[in-house]
Amino acid sequence: MNGECSSAAGISALGIAVIGVGNIGSAHADCLARGKINGARLAALCDIDPDKERALRALYPDVPFFDDAGKLFDSGLCDAVIVSAPHREHVPLGIAALERGLHLLTEKPAGVSVSDVRRLNEKAASSGRVFGIMFNQRTSPLFRRARDIFRAGTLGELTRVNWIITNWYRTQQYYDSGTWRATWRGEGGGVLLNQAPHNLDILQWICGMPVRLRASCYEGKFHHIEVEDEATLFFEYENGATGVFITSTGEYPGTNRLEISGTKGKMVLEEGHIRLFTHAPRAGASNGADIPDIVCETIETGGETGGHAAVLQNFTDAVRTGSPLIAPGEDGIYELSLSNAAFLSSWTGEWVLLPIDAEHTALFDSMLAERAASSKKYNAGPAAERGVAPGDRGEAAGYKDKWQVNW
Ligand SMILES: NC(=O)c1ccc[n+]([C@@H]2O[C@H](COP(=O)([O-])OP(=O)(O)OC[C@H]3O[C@@H](n4cnc5c(N)ncnc54)[C@H](O)[C@@H]3O)[C@@H](O)[C@H]2O)c1
Repeated sequence: MNGECSSAAGISALGIAVIGVGNIGSAHADCLARGKINGARLAALCDIDPDKERALRALYPDVPFFDDAGKLFDSGLCDAVIVSAPHREHVPLGIAALERGLHLLTEKPAGVSVSDVRRLNEKAASSGRVFGIMFNQRTSPLFRRARDIFRAGTLGELTRVNWIITNWYRTQQYYDSGTWRATWRGEGGGVLLNQAPHNLDILQWICGMPVRLRASCYEGKFHHIEVEDEATLFFEYENGATGVFITSTGEYPGTNRLEISGTKGKMVLEEGHIRLFTHAPRAGASNGADIPDIVCETIETGGETGGHAAVLQNFTDAVRTGSPLIAPGEDGIYELSLSNAAFLSSWTGEWVLLPIDAEHTALFDSMLAERAASSKKYNAGPAAERGVAPGDRGEAAGYKDKWQVNW
């Protein structure tokens, strides 16, 4: 391995570099630098923004800094990378890192297009390296318990799922905080690609993937942006169960309510707990005309959401000990398939079958490319050159809190 050092226990610590040290990358760097991850250390930092370079060199004088990922890879100073640059960089940087023999933890979404992410997954499969994705909400005790309940068959067979997740409120200032944001060219989508990936992943992680989907995405409904800030998805599962997923960054206050119904009961996740309703067992034989009695319980899952640090710890453990990943990188394709299908359905007015076939991924790619070609706002230059003041870059106090889902 490259760049190893020895921990107190004499076991080499994993050298992790952070590529893209913005809002979330700086949190990952901070977590590593403060020694919060057992068996890992902050090996290097990489960002293309000269302002970031100045700030990071001052903050971490002992940590090597690179203004280009290629130079970082050539340095041999790390064993693994976290890719926390904007979405469109995830696939090219991820593939390049794997090709250099590095373990990879990528931020969500895995990429912008399913066809690109298929290439990333293929590369990861043949690389022999650990590949994880930052689906930090999979560490939530609430979602973990809900998944256990569903998978244990407590609700019977799935009949319906509804998730209203409209408490991803974002201000215009947030959207103006980086010129890659909320543009077809820079970001490749809006709420479905930036905020809702967490929920789309949890949805498929609990209930599995639907087989077809249609959607309406509303672009610039609440903000001066060209991508969608509201979307409603309707989908069907193989057994005929149906689902509705509603998300928005424009409602305040928003709602976060996940309801899953099955042939033996239902559960409702809202305000941080689960209300579980199950059909009561019958003393005698049913005559077929009775409405079942219901047993209702409220489940407080408690406990801290491990969040980003828990995924980073799990990734480190997976590299060092071979323990299983909470969120294997290959899983990133599922929620991205849902959002790609939603865009395509909204643009064409048609149902989209899942998994998306090659014809439809190609159609999605070409329709997205058309939109990207006419993107109005995007300017890839460093923030200072774009006239973005430091305080406007989403670095304002309190921003980090908004990464969490608030119940
Ligand atoms: N898991 C989560 O909870 C979570 C939270 C926030 C952001 N994210 C994801 O992290 C990514 C970054 O989001 P952000 O809000 O931190 O964005 P940001 O704009 O604050 O930071 C991105 C950084 O990447 C740098 N960058 C751009 N291209 C680069 C390249 N080729 N090489 C190196 N650096 C490069 C930019 O200069 C910037 O400093 C997004 O994909 C986003 O979806 C995930």
